[in-house]
Amino acid sequence: MKNWSKQLFLILFCSLITGKLLAQTNHEDQKMEWFKDAKLGIFIHWGIYSVNGIDESWSFFNDYISYDDYMKQVEGFTASNYAPEKWAKLIKSSGAKYAVITAKHHDGVALWDSQVSDLTVVKKTPAKKDLIAPFMNALEKEGLKKGLYYSVLDWSHPDYDRKTRTKYRYKDEPERFQKFVEFNFKQLDELSSNFDPDLYWFDGDWEHSAEEWRSKELKAQLLKKNPNVIVNSRIGGNLGDYATPEQGVPVTRPSSKYWELCLTMNNSWGYQHNDDNYKSPNELLRIFVDCLHMGGNLLLDLGPKPDGTIPDKAVNILESFGRWTDKHAAAIYDTQAGIPQGHVYAPTTLSKDRKTLYIYLDYKVNESLVIKGLKNKINRIWVVGNGTKLDHREVGKQYWSKVPGLKYIDIPDNVYDKDITVIAVLLDGEIDLYREKGQVIESN
Ligand code: GLC
Repeated sequence: MKNWSKQLFLILFCSLITGKLLAQTNHEDQKMEWFKDAKLGIFIHWGIYSVNGIDESWSFFNDYISYDDYMKQVEGFTASNYAPEKWAKLIKSSGAKYAVITAKHHDGVALWDSQVSDLTVVKKTPAKKDLIAPFMNALEKEGLKKGLYYSVLDWSHPDYDRKTRTKYRYKDEPERFQKFVEFNFKQLDELSSNFDPDLYWFDGDWEHSAEEWRSKELKAQLLKKNPNVIVNSRIGGNLGDYATPEQGVPVTRPSSKYWELCLTMNNSWGYQHNDDNYKSPNELLRIFVDCLHMGGNLLLDLGPKPDGTIPDKAVNILESFGRWTDKHAAAIYDTQAGIPQGHVYAPTTLSKDRKTLYIYLDYKVNESLVIKGLKNKINRIWVVGNGTKLDHREVGKQYWSKVPGLKYIDIPDNVYDKDITVIAVLLDGEIDLYREKGQVIESN
């Protein structure tokens, strides 16, 4: 090849690759758009473990109860008061934009009418019906996104090799394990074909490697059915679309672009009548705001009773979320992560155009709130969902210093929300923060 044609070839080749990569990122961003804006999701752990009110799957795995006694719970799982439309309406009214339900937990009991397993609520429990289908329909009717939790490990399946208390070793009987993996593929194919979920919430990947799960192939199968399906991080092998910190509220912003904190309302994922350690609506709302501040979602979990009733305390929490999210919608769904700590002593977010700063106060300030290091002029300040306009004044600006003055906002006592008050600060342009090392006397 001549030199110039080599160069031309190289340019064409490089632009093809960059074009492809760009298209991929664009598609990825588009696909994640609804998830990024959803902010709040509801997690539902529903299964036979609610009958005795014990830990989902782990109770037999950890030998708190024998496997046989654990499985006897199937007899009490009636779903007799199951009202999926009511669930979906309640979820919607909380301000959540999606829900994720346990289609199958580690105990292997499928909540849908799986044709490839005998261990389903249809075949084994007095509920005798597919519980996933009507909920998926109800979510769709309410315009909510549909998520399915699926455990890739299955502590009941005869072909599954349990790493800790080995029935057999995967390496000794690779074909048998392959049979199990094929079973996962089939069940997931059923879920995709029957319900077309918007999101898969995998779990239990830790017992095997991504190669052993054939995670890449699995993800490809799901994407083939729905190119826009979102997959969480627990599918193994870094193949997930977003990170899933669990229970521990992040202190600093997680490094992944998309993330979601999953959190129980009390101390259990499923229904446990002896667990009354509910966080208060106010505590949960403050955790929610913390997630908003760090650019993530909250997936708030509840556990329905074996008859399908949602516990009163959970209903109350959802209703409290509804009141707050409805009043403050503008400061929730159209926002992105806030500004670095230190400028305001409160969590913050920014509007998508970065021209409005939202400040979330879970305390009453003494006289006035202060913003430090804000270079912008402030055009207007108001209390979100209340409408009151607020004044501000700038103090301490020196004409010879680049350090912006302190901006004080007076907040009258009568504008506070009973949970979290949101102050909107409209700036004269995109937010511009002073981030240099703070010297009072500067050399230039
Ligand atoms: C953990 C637990 C599981 C629970 C899940 C929810 O992975 O194993 O029981 O369903 O967290 O995030």
